[in-house]
Amino acid sequence: MILAPSILSADFARLATDIAAAERGGAGAIHVDVMDGHFVPNITLGPPVVKSIRRATALPLDVHLMIENADRYLDAFIDAGATWISLHAEALPHLQRSVAHLKGRGIQAGVAINPATPLAALEEILSDLDYVLIMSVNPGFGGQKFLPGSLDKVRRLSAQIKDRDLRVRIEVDGGVDMTNVRALSQAGADILVAGQAVFGGGDAERDARRLLEAAG
Ligand code: DX5
Ligand code: ZN
Repeated sequence: MILAPSILSADFARLATDIAAAERGGAGAIHVDVMDGHFVPNITLGPPVVKSIRRATALPLDVHLMIENADRYLDAFIDAGATWISLHAEALPHLQRSVAHLKGRGIQAGVAINPATPLAALEEILSDLDYVLIMSVNPGFGGQKFLPGSLDKVRRLSAQIKDRDLRVRIEVDGGVDMTNVRALSQAGADILVAGQAVFGGGDAERDARRLLEAAG
């Protein structure tokens, strides 16, 4: 199980310190939420911040793009140091081309789907992907409540991946905490994103470690 703490709930004035604490607690990647105020009702950060974070940790940078016209910015995020990039199926009309572009540049490519988007939206692209990001809240803000239907979605996706004999990992993002990590791991999640549950309690090292232990 890989824990990818979301810096959305960290202190942006002391990102390097917060990231280092999560890393000591066992974080396996750093989740970076990019929001544009159009695809989602919130604005966060862009390539310059990714570039600075790249210098602050050796962990993979898991960049989650919640933006319109993402194609226009892919190279900027790659050049800034992104390791994994997830694109929203709802935001990109030519997903196959976008994913191929990421892979051509040596990036691990993921497709994210919102809670109301069915797994069927992934059917044709699944075999091209390194991972799928199942949103377990409607994207835009940290600290929202986990939507319980996501658990079955993870289970069904995991079964499809096995049936088709694919090597696609499943990442879950939104409202992940001590109450659901075990069930998510049993349902087939490989990567868990957690913002509030890691950075909201004042001790990211301790809370990252607890989540990983609870996930089993
Ligand atoms: C939501 C973001 C998430 C968010 C998760 O739009 O994509 O990554 O930061 O935060 P928590 O774990 O607090 O729900
Ligand atoms: Zn995210």
